[in-house]
Amino acid sequence: MALRNILKEGDEMLEKHCRPVTDFNDRLHILLDDMAETMNSAEGVGLAAPQVGVLRRAVVVLETNVPEGEEPYVVELVNPEILSSDGEQEGPEGCLSVPGVYGWVKRPEHVVVRAQDRNGETFEIEGFGLTARAFCHEIAHLEGQLFLEVSEHLMTEEELEEYYSSGDEA
Ligand code: NI
Repeated sequence: MALRNILKEGDEMLEKHCRPVTDFNDRLHILLDDMAETMNSAEGVGLAAPQVGVLRRAVVVLETNVPEGEEPYVVELVNPEILSSDGEQEGPEGCLSVPGVYGWVKRPEHVVVRAQDRNGETFEIEGFGLTARAFCHEIAHLEGQLFLEVSEHLMTEEELEEYYSSGDEA
């Protein structure tokens, strides 16, 4: 595994529509391994292939809704699509491609996603809370969309501090 360079806002690769993955081969497996390592190293909860310069429909998300005492684990989504969503959450959202910037973003509280795994097997997976947010955020990357486009307003440092000190984060 290897760390990959995370492209930053302004790079045109981040604005492109990504093509489906068609070959579930070693190259894809290495990409997914590298993406997970890169996400973990950057302490993110999600990363999309275009963020490392690969215009294919693949993302990794850290599932943090785990029982107490268990470690979060990486979910790989190849050719993901959101089948349904419900509920609503709002809060600060950031992106490894836009370091240090947070915006107020509304997302569904719960989503159901259909995707393929690294071997091409189709599965469905649910995400709640932060995981639902990450699924939506990462899948939007595959359409060339950054959270900045859907953010109601960017948050100042004071607003962020107030939000996190008030203890009402999701
Ligand atoms: Ni992002």
